[in-house]
Amino acid sequence: MNNLSDTFTLRNGYQIPCVGFGTWQTPDGETAVNAIKTAISCGYCHIDGAAVYANEKSVGQGIAESGVKREKLFITSKVWNADRGYEKTKAAFKKTCDDLGVDYLDLYLIHWPASESRFKDWEQINLDTWRAMTELYKEGKIRAIGVSNFMPHHLKALMQTEVKPMVNQIEFHPGQMQKETVTFCKENGILVEAWSPLGTGKMLTNETLVQIAKHYQKSVAQLCIRWCLQNEVLPLPKSITPSRIQENTEVFDFVITKEDMDIINGMSYCGGSGLEPDQIKF
Ligand code: A2P
Repeated sequence: MNNLSDTFTLRNGYQIPCVGFGTWQTPDGETAVNAIKTAISCGYCHIDGAAVYANEKSVGQGIAESGVKREKLFITSKVWNADRGYEKTKAAFKKTCDDLGVDYLDLYLIHWPASESRFKDWEQINLDTWRAMTELYKEGKIRAIGVSNFMPHHLKALMQTEVKPMVNQIEFHPGQMQKETVTFCKENGILVEAWSPLGTGKMLTNETLVQIAKHYQKSVAQLCIRWCLQNEVLPLPKSITPSRIQENTEVFDFVITKEDMDIINGMSYCGGSGLEPDQIKF
């Protein structure tokens, strides 16, 4: 990977730009519009959103005002937990497209798995959601489909369907590598994306990372983003600050040595969201 528009290839051959711009916790309104416009002007061509972030209209406005053609951008959204199931997923997809002002999505994900702790028929619920997504995919309204926050046991049933998940977006940052899930995805042709690659900012003061980043004359944020790429995981850093949005693109002019990769890959848990897919209450 040499720049933001270099791509990973999904199992169906579709190309996905190697760093996405995250929009979770980006306030709706002017802040989101400006963040998107800044990101696109800095060269991001991949934007990661979700209905539940409650900022899709502003994200769409930023895209429209960027002056960059929609086809040049890769746009992801996610179906929220309240919209699981066949009919609701179809309606949620339509609302997201209307809010974003687009007539197709590049990638649509199931935001969180329905799980056993809350639903007796959790597996069927996920399959029903997936059936709606598969239909939209076959109609050409979505170019690739996948999941988010799925662990291997959630993925099992979907792997038996006609169109298998192409992406799994999970929390991934130093100390939180979800190795079992990542291994399962890699063995099954599913690209892993990293949400909160900076641990929602919690990684930035980690002493081990500070020391390693210094060695490369890079920031910890840049180190974390580069570290994802070298693990073949697609990072989705979020920022609303123009200088940081730019800084987070400058990750192609250094290579983390195997020794340093091993140190970071060996780090134990040092903070994160604390969200467990089987325990979430929302
Ligand atoms: P802000 O949006 O105010 O600029 P993550 O992507 O892991 O969820 O992390 C997002 C958090 O990290 C946000 O609080 C964001 O702040 C902050 N952040 C993003 N990029 C940088 C950076 N290069 N330096 C410092 N903080 C950053």
